[in-house]
Amino acid sequence: MRTPLIAGNWKMNGSLQSVIELVEGIKAGEAGKAQLAVCPPAVYLMKVGGMLDGTGIALGAQNVCDRETGAFTGEISASMLKESGCQYAIVGHSERRALYQESDELVARRFAMAAASGLVPILCIGETLEQREKGVTEAVVSRQLDAVIEQQGVSVIGQAVIAYEPVWAIGTGKVATPEQAQAVHGFIREKLATLDAGVADKVQILYGGSMNPANAGELLSKPDIDGGLIGGASLKAADFLAIGQSA
Ligand code: 13P
Repeated sequence: MRTPLIAGNWKMNGSLQSVIELVEGIKAGEAGKAQLAVCPPAVYLMKVGGMLDGTGIALGAQNVCDRETGAFTGEISASMLKESGCQYAIVGHSERRALYQESDELVARRFAMAAASGLVPILCIGETLEQREKGVTEAVVSRQLDAVIEQQGVSVIGQAVIAYEPVWAIGTGKVATPEQAQAVHGFIREKLATLDAGVADKVQILYGGSMNPANAGELLSKPDIDGGLIGGASLKAADFLAIGQSA
């Protein structure tokens, strides 16, 4: 039985004041049985981590450097994230891939550094609308997964979380239907099972893309959807908690 994980990706939103209010709102509410995690902008990690101490709500970063230390201006190392209280690090979010030209290979190296440092990488994969319409969704998510597996072997996936985020569903209000999402989640798990059945059975596969309290229940009822990576709806404590309760 995989524990559901509901992770909020706050992206580059908020201010110190609004972040404090959001964390207070989340702490004040009823979380349900899911594991919750929040991924604030990096400058707020220590503040949020301190506020979450003892709550059981996990902390995650939105990215992690592929190098250990040194002259990499603007980057943040895995050990710094660990020291700031992070348990998770998102890698390969489609916004990083598309807007900052992060290649599959770079994403795999970021993943490796996170895993080697004891962070749980949340590996984001997913197709664009154009790719879906061309019928290459499975080929795209396979390629994105293979970049990690070929570099590090399949067992490392067992220490990670996968987030299937169809690019066309992110921030658009256009959610994948539960059937569309389940089809890709099932494909991912079957693909992993051909390499290592134990890893396939264990790994949490989250759905991301316009998930909200109204559509979460049905998505999360699908057998291979083990949680959500939530953008917009995670910026409202009540919505985030409501998604957590439906998991
Ligand atoms: P939205 O929930 O705003 O569509 O964002 C999803 C996402 O990108 C989470 O990483």
